[in-house]
Amino acid sequence: MYGLINKAVEGLVRSRFGDDAWARIRTRAGLPDEPFVSMEQYPDKTTYDLVAAASAELGAPAEAILEEFGRYWTVYTAEVGYGELMRSAGSTLPEFLRNLDQLHTRVQLSFPHLSPPSFAVQGEHADGLDLQYYSSRPGLAPLVVGLLRGLGERFNLDLELKSERVEVGRAHDLFHIRWTARANQGSARGSSTA
Ligand code: HEM
Repeated sequence: MYGLINKAVEGLVRSRFGDDAWARIRTRAGLPDEPFVSMEQYPDKTTYDLVAAASAELGAPAEAILEEFGRYWTVYTAEVGYGELMRSAGSTLPEFLRNLDQLHTRVQLSFPHLSPPSFAVQGEHADGLDLQYYSSRPGLAPLVVGLLRGLGERFNLDLELKSERVEVGRAHDLFHIRWTARANQGSARGSSTA
């Protein structure tokens, strides 16, 4: 995956757990003390090794690390120059989810070798929908859980999520999403650094 992803993992660890924790995780993952380059492609193994090392160092399951990373990503992207891209994807959660593939197609203009996931919305109703997630990479459903939670916060919604693995036809993860407006309406995320 592009270095942008690994840089964000580094940003998450450094901001939540400090520079020493990052140094231990990087060392455990067998990576040199060099900055990641956003536009450079790294083997997927680098990202998986980082998640495994973070899991071991922080004593949290890999799924929890991926989920936390997903939440962080929805804020981080806006901070590193993709705020307009995030805004253009939609002003409501269902609109945004319907536009996820288009969003990654636009990302592909800057990252030509992107191997993006694919999403499809089904069964949309007033307070929920089903989202299919297709990826060539294994084990990233918890990342999508975190991304959805981050998007819920962005649109001031509390989400109820259920997911299942579908192996019939082209294998994918299916997320059943229901939302309710948050009682405490804050300002929309994007400019926030929280
Ligand atoms: C402006 C915002 C975004 C940017 C710049 C961006 C960019 C990227 C990049 C560079 C990758 C790595 C793929 C590769 O290098 O081959 C990626 C992967 C991914 N993105 Fe996005 N993305 C954005 C928003 C989102 C959002 C909102 C979601 C919500 C569902 C999402 C879901 C994913 C997932 C699940 C992957 C993991 C790869 C996989 O499943 O195979 N992205 N994205």
